[in-house]
Amino acid sequence: MTQVLSVSSEVFPLIKTGGLADVAGALPLALERVGIRTRTLLPAYPSVLAQVEGGTQVAAFPDLFGGSARVLSTSVSGLDVLLLDAPHLFDRPGGPYVGANGYDHPDNWARFAALSKAAALIGTGAVEGFRPDVVHAHDWQAALAPVYLEHMGSDRPATVVTIHNLAFQGAFPQTIFAELGLPDATWSVDGVEYYGSVGFLKGGLRAADRITTVSPNYAREILTAEGGMGLDGLLRGREDRLSGIVNGIDVETWNPDADPHVAAPFDRDALFRRAINKRALEAEFALEEDDTPLLAVVSRLTWQKGLDILAEACDDIVAAGCRLAVVGSGDRLLEGAFLSAAARHSGRMGVRIGYDEILSHRVQAGADALLVPSRFEPCGLTQLYALRYGCLPVVARVGGLADTVIDANFAAQNAGVATGIIFAPVTREALMEGIARLLELYADASTWRDMQRTAMSSDVSWTASARRYADLYQGLLQEQSR
Ligand code: ADP
Ligand code: GLC
Repeated sequence: MTQVLSVSSEVFPLIKTGGLADVAGALPLALERVGIRTRTLLPAYPSVLAQVEGGTQVAAFPDLFGGSARVLSTSVSGLDVLLLDAPHLFDRPGGPYVGANGYDHPDNWARFAALSKAAALIGTGAVEGFRPDVVHAHDWQAALAPVYLEHMGSDRPATVVTIHNLAFQGAFPQTIFAELGLPDATWSVDGVEYYGSVGFLKGGLRAADRITTVSPNYAREILTAEGGMGLDGLLRGREDRLSGIVNGIDVETWNPDADPHVAAPFDRDALFRRAINKRALEAEFALEEDDTPLLAVVSRLTWQKGLDILAEACDDIVAAGCRLAVVGSGDRLLEGAFLSAAARHSGRMGVRIGYDEILSHRVQAGADALLVPSRFEPCGLTQLYALRYGCLPVVARVGGLADTVIDANFAAQNAGVATGIIFAPVTREALMEGIARLLELYADASTWRDMQRTAMSSDVSWTASARRYADLYQGLLQEQSR
């Protein structure tokens, strides 16, 4: 059986700030079903340690970036987990990346170089009885793993780096290079040097045997100057090593018919039960009860997500006869913009600032449509949850959003395959046109119901994509054994 060490800075259900955690938590379970065994390495943040019981020490590193560290092996929700317990790096208040003061931890370079180094050591035998065939590193936080492995002899595992978001590259001042313990030769354009800085993701993309990203469309976008965020040249040079594999979702955690968080579970043959969830959501957001469409957002509030455009469109959306429920946190200015729009439109718009996993289930189950006006979106998961819950997605034509939603144009409607609305470009006008098209569909109850059923029948599971990852690993191993 092929063995994979997956390395990620967040893994659902242990620790999550975004979609990376969902993917790192769900993919191993899907891979297991196609004959790939995964162990997942992540930092032992205090909140993670608080959730696990016991844990067996399986490795120790006396000096890992300035302190001693050990690796604990345990199992959580069906995941085989390795926790990097390095108190000098991870035992502190705040989140995985940001301290309690709201700023990045100043030693993030050391924290995630340590994660990557530990992955490389485990990849070459630090945990007795475990020799992974592949080390699969997610995002910049794990991306130095292939760089370390490149210099650890020929008996090393194959390496894969997955790009979940090119906007976060892990670039640090040159002064840290000496602390990384990499050969001097890696300070070059063929190594980690990146416009005079140390680029964690850049180095990983150079060194990895294979690069993947989380949708076919984003795989094309990152080869362009606009989408490549400075790394398009490197990526074009490695295009034959790059593939886009669309994310799936955990269809057990996200199952409208057996969701413990919603007032009335439902399936596509009992859509009338959604109305109970809609009423509950109206109450939760102090919205007037009526039959106008209830639009929703569940998102980090950032520029990437295009939510400044939505904030400016709130008055138009309410004037068009819709209600709006927003759950999100992030940019303080955006939080303020949504709160003040809600104050202007009491009863028509409600905002919940914060991160609330359970509420996000209730929103998907009760809202009529989910708005995702992202400027770029490597894959996007909320539109996949929305499809599964019959909450029709209204999305920008970018990245994985364009790969996963079928626009209700004339042909798609005739063929009965439409699952949402896609708009372009990412402007307030185009967003409002998309919403106007949505309103037309909503006005015809049977068309709307048919579209909900089609959306709910979309295959958003991991099944097909897990197969693609399995094929990728196996192709890579065959290549290496030649
Ligand atoms: P990204 O990873 O860029 O934030 P994704 O759509 O891939 O975007 O994943 C976001 C994940 O985080 C989804 O599972 C979504 O439901 C969740 N999420 C985002 N914001 C919130 C929030 N405020 N409360 C609850 N869940 C949220
Ligand atoms: C990133 C991207 C998002 C993607 C997620 C999981 O956070 O912004 O589009 O769905 O990673 O791959």
